[in-house]
Amino acid sequence: MILEGLERLEYRGYDSAGIAVIDDGALRITKAGGKLEVLNGLTRGGTTLPGFAGIGHTRWATHGVPNEVNAHPHYNTAKTIAVVQNGIIENYVALRKRLISKGYQFVSETDTETVAHLLDLYYKGNPLEAVIKVLQHIEGSYALSILFADQPDVVYGVRKGCPLILGIGEDGNFMASDVTAILKHTRRVIYPGEMEIVELKADGVRIVTMDEEEVTHEITEVAWDISAAEKGGYKHYMLKEIMEQPRVVRDTLSPRIRDGRIVIEELGMSDEELSRVRRVFMVACGSAYHTGVTGRYIFENLARIPVETDLASEFIYRDPLLDRDDLVVVISQSGETKDTLDAVKIAREAGCKVLAIVNVVGSTIARESDFVMYTQAGPEISVATTKAYSAQLIALYLLAMKFAEVRGFLHGRKLKSMLDDLMKLPEQIELMLGNRDKVQRIANRFIAARDVFFIGRGIDYAISLEGSLKLKEISYIHSEAYAAGELKHGTIALMEEGSLVAAVSTQPALHAKLLSNIVEVKARGAIIFSVTTMGNREIEEASDFCVTLPETNPLFANSLAIIPLQMLAYYISDGRGCDVDKPRNLAKSVTVE
Ligand code: AGP
Repeated sequence: MILEGLERLEYRGYDSAGIAVIDDGALRITKAGGKLEVLNGLTRGGTTLPGFAGIGHTRWATHGVPNEVNAHPHYNTAKTIAVVQNGIIENYVALRKRLISKGYQFVSETDTETVAHLLDLYYKGNPLEAVIKVLQHIEGSYALSILFADQPDVVYGVRKGCPLILGIGEDGNFMASDVTAILKHTRRVIYPGEMEIVELKADGVRIVTMDEEEVTHEITEVAWDISAAEKGGYKHYMLKEIMEQPRVVRDTLSPRIRDGRIVIEELGMSDEELSRVRRVFMVACGSAYHTGVTGRYIFENLARIPVETDLASEFIYRDPLLDRDDLVVVISQSGETKDTLDAVKIAREAGCKVLAIVNVVGSTIARESDFVMYTQAGPEISVATTKAYSAQLIALYLLAMKFAEVRGFLHGRKLKSMLDDLMKLPEQIELMLGNRDKVQRIANRFIAARDVFFIGRGIDYAISLEGSLKLKEISYIHSEAYAAGELKHGTIALMEEGSLVAAVSTQPALHAKLLSNIVEVKARGAIIFSVTTMGNREIEEASDFCVTLPETNPLFANSLAIIPLQMLAYYISDGRGCDVDKPRNLAKSVTVE
């Protein structure tokens, strides 16, 4: 039953897996690197692990490369306590140091193993007391399931910020990251609250607060079929992933902002190394490259360091003038894109340090680079990237601010206000997602379009590049993005009655310039859909359709302005009946040149 449930959850993570069951007062644990079928084979469909209480996990690595040792469940040295987790224990480094000083030995690189040893530290026969003690010491967003070998008929669970549901069945009770895992057995579900500890037994469920007060929740009947459940009730993975962006941005941000400072633990570059960097190259493909274009504006503006942006497929053949003090930053969701991987090799051969911003832990680009910064977007299923793109932007903001801080350009009030603006982004993205219906109505106006032009200046040009690619790759409408100032040098010749122009204007210093570009194309009959900052009346009035952004630091506007453009592309593609998640001629990871 656990293996079947994990199969249903594989779209959430599929790089390693494991199961633990209690059999005759002992924990039996089997783990394996690779897809679930490996574990299935190893356990002969679970038959090698007889038992009535158990926990299982399919992994999407965040801390520690995907392999058998880092796979879950993690357990204490005596193998009497086992834990599986979905989430991130943000203070695991400090906890790990403390436990090691108490003589604990760690076998994996994961944050989750810390929980197993902490439980061991506090367990004195009362599992609930031990769980509560541990929750008082760990920080982050997580969902945990826990087994104690000497408590053979109970599975403990708790959630904070990550999903955990309970399934009330005929032949037993379940807890899982989402309903897909249990729909085969039951549709009767309980949603425990934050920091409520669950005691799951075959014949019942008890839920208590951190003060051990009992709480009850109503049982909800889930109507979804399994495929809808995998998409969280959304019609496509792309829409689900668009809606996940507030959480993804929060998960990528919050572990790296501590006590008013930027802390990028995994970066591995000392402040001295950061300040010695002479020039930065941003190298990537597709949407990842577009984040690099935005990154350039921010790095040069904040850290006053020269930045070159390169399409990886061009970089690898232009014999770039690289110097040992240059830092090459490569950006990739999959971490397997061939052109970007080749760029890593070229940079390293030239003696440069390579920093990779990657979403897939343990991917080839991550392993081949000197330094790695992971984005916490989780598995991205839809070919058209959205949440991973947003997480890459956050990584670049943090990196640019770190560079600026180390080089003395960012401190005191300016640093504080920028950190405040960063921390507001998740809720502001939530606000932008609230424009769904409005953007869908605008999209209906564009469904039959033959060409769409995106225009912007500075960072808005970078945003336009991504908006245009999103539309092209899933709706098959021809679309181009232009630096707005370039229009009069040729492109404006394409403007005619009914031409559709998406104009992005989020930079206060450039609003007036962009307005004149809007007026220019409108005079030739163009229809304007603009994305601009709240209160920018002139652009709103000059536009046929307009979506406004809440106030933020202009350097972070990309994270808000891209949302309506992602949704526009989504609703146009869906409206045209395209295969939104698997567009023609495209692959999620381009591993060939
Ligand atoms: C974007 O939606 C596309 N899937 C594509 O342009 C993608 O960004 C590009 O192939 C780079 O992929 P990577 O981030 O996995 O390296």
